Amino acid sequence: MYEEELAFADALAQEAAGIALSLFGTDLEIRTKQDRTPVTEADVGVERMIRARLAERFPDDAVLGEEGGRSGDAPRVWVIDPIDGTKNFAAGIQIWATLIALLVEETPVLGLASAPALGERYVASRGGGATLNGGPIRVSETASIDGAFVLASGESSFLGAPDRAWFVELATTAGRTRGFGDWWAHLLVARGAADVALEPELHVWDYAALVPIVEEAGGRVSTLDGAPLREGGSMLTTNGHLHPEVLSLIRKGGGA
Ligand code: IPD
Ligand code: CA
Ligand code: CA
Repeated sequence: MYEEELAFADALAQEAAGIALSLFGTDLEIRTKQDRTPVTEADVGVERMIRARLAERFPDDAVLGEEGGRSGDAPRVWVIDPIDGTKNFAAGIQIWATLIALLVEETPVLGLASAPALGERYVASRGGGATLNGGPIRVSETASIDGAFVLASGESSFLGAPDRAWFVELATTAGRTRGFGDWWAHLLVARGAADVALEPELHVWDYAALVPIVEEAGGRVSTLDGAPLREGGSMLTTNGHLHPEVLSLIRKGGGA
């Protein structure tokens, strides 16, 4: 399924890696956008390249990119986050990725996360399985929270009311916790290295590419209150087995 689009997205990832790696670790100019988040010439350059290639190859498709906004109106929408983890990128930390998704009638059918500084490329298409560097990936079999490895992006996001009670219970019950965030937390769950990932607030371009990868690897995604993912909402990713237990703990704690 979507073989032509997958090959195209892979070529985009390759070209994006060239642009981003040539700037990674250099003395970058970091601007602050209106939403007070940082942007570098890597973010802008990668998205510009992807938009130009898409316009040549799939001119009828719409595009939604973090830096360039929405263009076109079509049932097929390419969703781009040119650098997810810009703060890491700017700080010289290798955990950043170019995220590319294809949505058809709002359903993500293809997802790619390319992290060249880590040497990791995750790819999935609906019904075609999920891979890391070409090899199949699968979520863990962990079945209870007390044995689970739980990742949360920025613990401070969950320590205010109304989340504090359930977050403290989850963190203290879990087998192990770490503060990995961005795209990586969710894909560590997809590949079975971690079991649960929590994120307080995401845009469509932050999660669209992750959804097919997590689901094709056997995992589950929702908001922290168990609803479908939405623009500006939270994200809970689990290996599937743990999803009901985590949601019930959150509900009992009165959060989300
Ligand atoms: C950020 C990451 C992060 C999320 C932030 C986003 P960026 O994206 O996705 O995980 O917590 O809300 O802004 O700016 O590095 O692409
Ligand atoms: Ca992002
Ligand atoms: Ca970004």
